[in-house]
Amino acid sequence: MYYFMLCKVLVIIGCVTAGLAVAKSKECDVLVVDEDNVTVNCSKRGISAIPDSWPEQLAAVNKDSQVRITLFNNSITDVTQFPVAPGARVAISLRANRIVEIRDDAFNNIERLFFLDLSYNRITGEVLRSEIFQGPYNDGVYADIALETLDLAHNEIHSLDRYLFQYTPNLTRLDLSDNPIEILDHVTILALSSATQLEVLNLSGTGIDDIPLDAFRGLVNLQMIDLSNNKFVTVPESLSLVGTTLKYLTFNNNPIVELNDDSFIGLSNLYELEVGENQLLEEVKRSTFTPLKRLRVLHLCHNPNLRFISHLAFRGLKDKWTLKEVYLDDNNLSELSTDLMPWGKLEVLGMTNNDWLCNCDLANIVTKQEAGTKFKSGEIPYCAAPMRLAGEYITNITGFCPTLDSTPESAKNKKFSFGNLRPKHLLWSIFGVAMVALFGMLLGLLVNTLKTFYKTKVKSQPIKYVNINADSSFA
Ligand SMILES: *[C@@H]1O[C@H](CO)[C@@H](O)[C@H](O)[C@H]1NC(C)=O
Ligand SMILES: *[C@@H]1O[C@H](CO)[C@@H](O)[C@H](O)[C@H]1NC(C)=O
Ligand SMILES: *[C@@H]1O[C@H](CO)[C@@H](O)[C@H](O)[C@H]1NC(C)=O
Ligand SMILES: *[C@@H]1O[C@H](CO)[C@@H](O)[C@H](O)[C@H]1NC(C)=O
Ligand SMILES: *[C@@H]1O[C@H](CO)[C@@H](O)[C@H](O)[C@H]1NC(C)=O
Ligand SMILES: *[C@@H]1O[C@H](CO)[C@@H](O)[C@H](O)[C@H]1NC(C)=O
Repeated sequence: MYYFMLCKVLVIIGCVTAGLAVAKSKECDVLVVDEDNVTVNCSKRGISAIPDSWPEQLAAVNKDSQVRITLFNNSITDVTQFPVAPGARVAISLRANRIVEIRDDAFNNIERLFFLDLSYNRITGEVLRSEIFQGPYNDGVYADIALETLDLAHNEIHSLDRYLFQYTPNLTRLDLSDNPIEILDHVTILALSSATQLEVLNLSGTGIDDIPLDAFRGLVNLQMIDLSNNKFVTVPESLSLVGTTLKYLTFNNNPIVELNDDSFIGLSNLYELEVGENQLLEEVKRSTFTPLKRLRVLHLCHNPNLRFISHLAFRGLKDKWTLKEVYLDDNNLSELSTDLMPWGKLEVLGMTNNDWLCNCDLANIVTKQEAGTKFKSGEIPYCAAPMRLAGEYITNITGFCPTLDSTPESAKNKKFSFGNLRPKHLLWSIFGVAMVALFGMLLGLLVNTLKTFYKTKVKSQPIKYVNINADSSFA
């Protein structure tokens, strides 16, 4: 058989050229995890063409089983027709080869192909024609194939064929990340919007700065999208077209400067939002999160210039609060407003690695509103300022705040410390001491005056009395 002959040729070449490297150029292994789960391992074998048959054990597997065929990290350039493979669900990985061509009918023998990984190859848009996904030819038409997951990441795709998804009606996950798409042109948009079952779409690292409305018009099932590592200066408005289904939005590393009340408009079903690593993001403005009426998890991390979150950022959400996890780690925040959110309703809060100014507002959030109980263990943020509190855990700063002294937990066992005194308190103390001293002096003066008065009176009285007596006796 061609494939085994090829292996032998490689072995010989290997022997001649690279000595010990030969050991790697051998036929595929079949791993039977259990009778319903079989892997054909052809990874890293120096294979340069699609095998023309599978190891014999594969013929014996249960026809309902899940079969994974991996040709990861070989040097295949041309994907010719795959030999028939059994199994109710077949997954094929051609990741990390050198593919530049895929033949019509390549997967035609594998009707039950549900997963195909073509990532890390050299595939261009021209290679991706609808014919490559044609199923078996019956009665003058090509059947569909079962494909659900298609990974095209890290290729050389600029544009997609308008009919690419013609034979893959069940496509639910599509990864186009790290391709030089740059502009979603008319045909690419038609292709995308024809994949109406799409639930997961990865467009990260594609160099795009805009998504035209039409791209999303057909995607009535889209639940998850990744738009990271692109050139968006705003969150694309077109997302609102999929707002009723979209649950997960990842928007990392884009050149946005602010988030505002337009950013997430219409995303009323969003469950988890991640906005991180945006080097230029400085500000989250009022009502930014207001449209996100079902949001449960918010990641707003690793934005090194994010300095300000409006106290009205969650405006209108407080009555029906849904957020459980909020991560604000690794930003450039120094203050948060006490009424930013109902802190006590969170389950997890992350605040590490910011420039926290440990003032009474922060103490209020952490202690009185119990945000301090939501930190993960080992992830207690600490103060950056004022200087005398720098490095102190923010859960340890409550002592000096007057309104907090009445809260039983924090205040009861608090020991007095000069470290906790703020200038204002110090002034009051000095004033107090001065008042006491003054009062003491006045009291002393009064006593002295009284003494003098008493002495004079007592000493002079008998004389006077005598005198009076004398006088009266005279009288
Ligand atoms: C098959 O086995 C692999 C490897 O142990 C495992 O990761 C996978 O979840 C299994 N799949 C099924 C359907 O049991
Ligand atoms: C497949 O084979 C390669 C090369 O022998 C090996 O490195 C790899 O661990 C194998 N994979 C599995 C899942 O057994
Ligand atoms: C594939 O294998 C080669 C060695 O044969 C190695 O240099 C390369 O890094 C591997 N690629 C991947 C993606 O693992
Ligand atoms: C697509 O999915 C449906 C529902 O699971 C299934 O009935 C149908 O056979 C699938 N289509 C193909 C071509 O496998
Ligand atoms: C954080 O903000 C301060 C000004 O408030 C600025 O000086 C500093 O460079 C910022 N940090 C980073 C990592 O950008
Ligand atoms: C925080 O306070 C507790 C108890 O008051 C103390 O045991 C702990 O050492 C303090 N931590 C820091 C970092 O000062």
